[in-house]
Amino acid sequence: MPTVIEAIMNRSSKRKYLTKPVPKELQEKILSAAQMTPSGANMQPWITYAISSSEVLKNIGDAIIEKMDAGILNDQFIQYYPINWVNPYKKRRITTGAALYKLMEVDRKDNETRIQMWKDNFRWFGAQTVFFVFTDKANIDEAQGALIDCGAYMQSLMLAAQEFEIDSCPQGSTTEFGKVIAQVLNIPDNLALLYSVVLGYADKEDKINSYQPERVSLEESVIFID
Ligand SMILES: Cc1cc2nc3c(=O)[nH]c(=O)nc-3n(C[C@H](O)[C@H](O)[C@H](O)COP(=O)(O)O)c2cc1C
Repeated sequence: MPTVIEAIMNRSSKRKYLTKPVPKELQEKILSAAQMTPSGANMQPWITYAISSSEVLKNIGDAIIEKMDAGILNDQFIQYYPINWVNPYKKRRITTGAALYKLMEVDRKDNETRIQMWKDNFRWFGAQTVFFVFTDKANIDEAQGALIDCGAYMQSLMLAAQEFEIDSCPQGSTTEFGKVIAQVLNIPDNLALLYSVVLGYADKEDKINSYQPERVSLEESVIFID
C-alpha cells in the first residue's frame, strides 16, 4: 500500500487506458474515502455521477464532439481557465503542452492531430468509468468556497484510487461542455457540472502515459516566514 506521500508523488494524469472496467466495489471504496474530504461548514457540496455505462459515456462524448465540430468552443456553467493568461502561468501552460506534443511527435502546426488529441478526452482515453462532479448552483452563486471544497474532493478521489492501483485523469475539458453533459444526463436544473475524473487501468505500454510534467521549485511557490 503506498504511503500518502508516495500516492501524491506517484500519481500522474494518464491518457490511454486498457479495456478493463473498474469494479463497482472499488469505485465505492474510492468514493467513500473521498466523502471524508473536508469542506467549509461540512457542506460536502459535491454530487457525483459515477458512470460506467459505455452507452451513456458514448452519448456524452458524441454530444460534445458534435458541438466542437459545429465550432462551438464551450457551453459551460463555470469558466475554468483564466480569460487573460499572465506569466508565469501562461509560460507553464505552454511548456507543459509543448512537452506533451513533443513526446507524441506532434508538430506545432499539426492542428488536426492536436484537436484529435483533445477529442480523446471525450472518448475518455479508452477508460470505462468517469466520475462527473456537480454542485448545486446555489453554492457557487456569488461564492467560490464550494469550488475549493470540490477541488479537494478531486484530489481525494485520485489519491484513493492510487491505493487500488487505479489511474486517473482530471478533466477540465468537460467543464467547458458542462451544459451539454447536464442535458445528456438530464440532471436536475439546480446542478452545475464542475469537472470530471476518468478512472481506469493505464496502458503502461503507451508512450503518452510516460508523460510527467515537472513542477516548479518551492522557491517559486512558497514563501516561508519564520
Ligand atoms: C482541474 C484540472 C483539469 C484538467 N483538465 C484536463 C483535461 O481536460 N485533459 C487532460 O488531458 N488533462 C487535464 N488535466 C491534467 C493536467 O494537465 C495535469 O494535472 C498537469 O499537467 C500536471 O500533470 P500530472 O497530473 O500528470 O501531474 C487537468 C488537471 C486538473 C487539475
